[in-house]
Parts: sequence; C-alpha cells; structure tokens
Amino acid sequence: MAAMNEGRDDGARPLLACEDVSKHYGAMAAVSRLSLDVRPGEVLGIGGPNGAGKTTLFDVITGLTAPDQGRVMFDGRDVTKASPQALCHMGLVRTFQLNAGYDTLTARENVLVGAYFGQRNIVIPGFRVSAQAKRRAEDAMDLVGLADVRNAIVKNLPVYQRKLLMMASALASEPKLLMMDEPVGGLNPHEIDDVMKLVERVRRSGVTIVLIEHVMRFLVALSDRVMIMHHGEKIYEGSSEGLVRDKTVVEVYLGAGASQRLKHLIEERRAR
Ligand SMILES: Nc1ncnc2c1ncn2[C@@H]1O[C@H](COP(=O)(O)OP(=O)(O)OP(=O)(O)O)[C@@H](O)[C@H]1O
Ligand SMILES: [Mg+2]
Repeated sequence: MAAMNEGRDDGARPLLACEDVSKHYGAMAAVSRLSLDVRPGEVLGIGGPNGAGKTTLFDVITGLTAPDQGRVMFDGRDVTKASPQALCHMGLVRTFQLNAGYDTLTARENVLVGAYFGQRNIVIPGFRVSAQAKRRAEDAMDLVGLADVRNAIVKNLPVYQRKLLMMASALASEPKLLMMDEPVGGLNPHEIDDVMKLVERVRRSGVTIVLIEHVMRFLVALSDRVMIMHHGEKIYEGSSEGLVRDKTVVEVYLGAGASQRLKHLIEERRAR
C-alpha cells in the first residue's frame, strides 16, 4: 500500500488545512477547536450568524493573529506562525469585510502594491515593481472590470468598485488560494450578480476560493461545499442541499422562511 501512496499526486492533498484551531479573546472562544480541509480547485463557502467567528478564522489562517491552539497547513507546509507577507509569497491572500486600501492612492497604485507583494524575488528594502508585476496589476484590473478607473483616487470610488479593487489587489499577486470576507456585503442585487460572474471566472482560472458571505443565494450558487459556524464551532459542513434541511442550521441561522426560499432556489438551479 505504501508503494501506491508514493506515486500519489499533490492534487489529493488539501491546499489548506486547519487542525483543531482555537482562538480566544479573553474568556471567549471566537474560534473553538475547528478543523477544516480545502481541496485544490474547490470553492468553500462559510456562513453563520454575526459574531460566529468567521472573520477570526480568516485572521488566524492569514497570519493576522496567532491561534492559541492548533495548526494551519498551506500547500503542505506548517504556516501557523507565518506572516501575511510570507503567506502572500506562498500564494495565500485575502480580502476584508470592510473596505481596505490606500485611500489617497489611485486604483492602479493600490493594485501594484498587491502585485509587488506577490513578487517572489521581492527586493528589500527598495520598492521596485518589476515589469512582470506591472503586467499582473493591469491584468487583474482588466479581469475585475476596473480598467476605466485605474487613475481614480480610491477614496472617491463607490463601495462596489472598492470591493472589486480589493479583489484585483489580491489577484495581482497570482494566488493559489483567494479568501474573501463578505465580498458582496452592502451591494445591490445587480452588483451581486456581477460579482458572482467574476468569482466564477476567477475559479475557472484555477484559483481555489474560500468565501464568507451572509448573502445566501451568493454562497449557495458559488460553493461546492458549505461550512456553517456558530459560537466559534463548526455546526455544519456539506452540500447546499443538506444545509437547508439541517435543523440546527435552520434554527440558529437561516430561519424557516429563508431556508424555504433557499430550497426553491437550489431546486431551480438543479432543474436548469
Ligand atoms: N480583535 C478582537 N478583540 C476582541 N474580540 C474580538 C476581536 N475580533 C473579534 N472579536 C470577537 O470574536 C467574536 C467573533 O467575531 P468575528 O468577527 O470573527 O465574527 P464573524 O462571524 O466574522 O461575524 P460577522 O458576520 O458579524 O462579521 C465576536 O464576539 C467578536 O466580538
Ligand atoms: Mg466577519
């Protein structure tokens, strides 16, 4: 059997694994003994009530805060103590729930920062952006549809374009794994549809995706698998179909009305 495993390709290994991860703030467990695998090429959707620990889980995975228990593995390496910058070099990047960016710089300059940190042969202490990184920044802006506002000052952009800008900055580093925290929070239905198409495009380009979202039609449409958190714990992991039938999820998160609407949506999609 050992001989059979030796030839196994990397695709079988999870790209990201959280093993028994906990993070406390004071006495409160924001994330509690959570384990999770993300396979290469998949889209994992994370949902759960406000304060469930979704963003904290992202913060732990992306090196913004250290877990007080457990281990995070990325691409076969233990990255529990890795910095966000080191993770970016390895191919793991994220976007934020609230718009983050350099307000007084142009859209293009913001994306260049992402492209710069994605450079494998980063020049320290200089800030020299390679021609390749510049190309990646332009490509990322084209992909998300920001080419027309590349020279606009970021603080003047509407929320929708700022969301896209965070995605472009992340994509400019050519990640293997893109983690998005509420990519459509605060957007209107038309904008949500556009971001949905964009995420599909990103996924088709081979990027593995983990996304947090309260907009359930977005989460269900894009995710191969869904995880629901509550009080720092995983209370559900599986298909969207199973989600709307899960008593605990309906009780603590979806509510009867929303789960019924979601059920119809899933059935409609399956019939198409
Ligand atoms: N830096 C921090 N210091 C203290 N408590 C924190 C900190 N960050 C998060 N918390 C607490 O941890 C818990 C989980 O918060 P978190 O932001 O991870 O939830 P969430 O699932 O992302 O919620 P939402 O859907 O509202 O974004 C909350 O009770 C929150 O108040
Ligand atoms: Mg959050």
